[in-house]
Amino acid sequence: MRKTARSPRSTRTRTAAGAALAATALLLGLAAAPSAQAEADGKHRAATLDELAQRSGRYFGSAVDNPELADTEYADLLGREFGTTTPGNTMKWEATEPQRGVFDFTGGDEVIDFARANGMKVRGHTLLWHNQLPGWLTEGTWTKDELRSILKNHITHVVKHYRGKVFAWDVANEIMNEDGTYRENIFYKTIGPGYIADALRWARAADPKVKLYLNDYNVDGLGAKSDAYYALIKQLKADRVPIDGFGLQGHLALQYGLPAGIKENLQRFADLGVDVAFTELDIRMQLPADPAKLAEQADWYGKVTSACLEVKRCVGITVWGYSDRHSWIPGVFEGEGAALPFDENLQHKPAYDAIRAALIAGAKKG
Ligand code: XIL
Repeated sequence: MRKTARSPRSTRTRTAAGAALAATALLLGLAAAPSAQAEADGKHRAATLDELAQRSGRYFGSAVDNPELADTEYADLLGREFGTTTPGNTMKWEATEPQRGVFDFTGGDEVIDFARANGMKVRGHTLLWHNQLPGWLTEGTWTKDELRSILKNHITHVVKHYRGKVFAWDVANEIMNEDGTYRENIFYKTIGPGYIADALRWARAADPKVKLYLNDYNVDGLGAKSDAYYALIKQLKADRVPIDGFGLQGHLALQYGLPAGIKENLQRFADLGVDVAFTELDIRMQLPADPAKLAEQADWYGKVTSACLEVKRCVGITVWGYSDRHSWIPGVFEGEGAALPFDENLQHKPAYDAIRAALIAGAKKG
């Protein structure tokens, strides 16, 4: 028997008879019986990445950029294989508040509707970032009080609109520099570092239940930047500021080496009392791809997945798009690409098999 009862998809599509059977099986202890698990192991081929992740109580998701939903072959597989999705662009500030005080939720709502139709949950991304801000905001000159009220208004409107529709928010994205100092974004420069606690409190006031995350890149392993987040989250906790999670984007590149101490890093944040998650995982390489690079990429995908599964509070993994057909990498990193576990034809790459193997091994350990 597949342990999919926690899946939003299976909960919604399960028949009453199926539910009764599952309940009986649970009562009889069949679900946990080793023979049933062994039988399930023989059927892994049919299970999706999300179903495999659910076996250890986690999710496996993929981001989506709205235009990709028109690629029906792509959208179908997204809906089948993944349990959660993250809008790649349409919940960002420039999309949601293109003019001051004028909100547009069209794009984000489209992703919510797609997710709902496919039994998926949604991660909200992102309330505050230095990129993809609307011109009216970046080109204006604001006093501290004005910008605080603009930020509060934005967060309040967006979080209220998506209350009950997203399970997590990246409240603040990429707020640290590589050396662990605060990034001098418009909010830092005008309001000072207190804008982070403010943003978290306003988000909590607008939705008491949603999980509130800080999110960044180059924080996957141990280092100055992840140290800075560790210190910040520790302080926020001490100050009783609402903070539920730390998101590791996981934009990795073969040519820079696998970051050291991923598991230890995840564990130290978990020990602070927050959830951790890989939120934007992709592993790029210099093109052209070849079998050796794809094998190394597979090894990394497996290691990252295993590291998450070894840490109780690592709640899930999201890839930033799932196939090389649609990926932000070639447009941003010249000469690089092939970063995802499915190829342009939506066929499994070695990375896909490595993720599956890691999910299966992790589920067995409990
Ligand atoms: C990227 C999108 O995927 C692109 O379509 C867009 O042009 C730029 O932003 N870190 C983040 C994401 O937190 O929001 C970024 O998404 C990728 C890097």
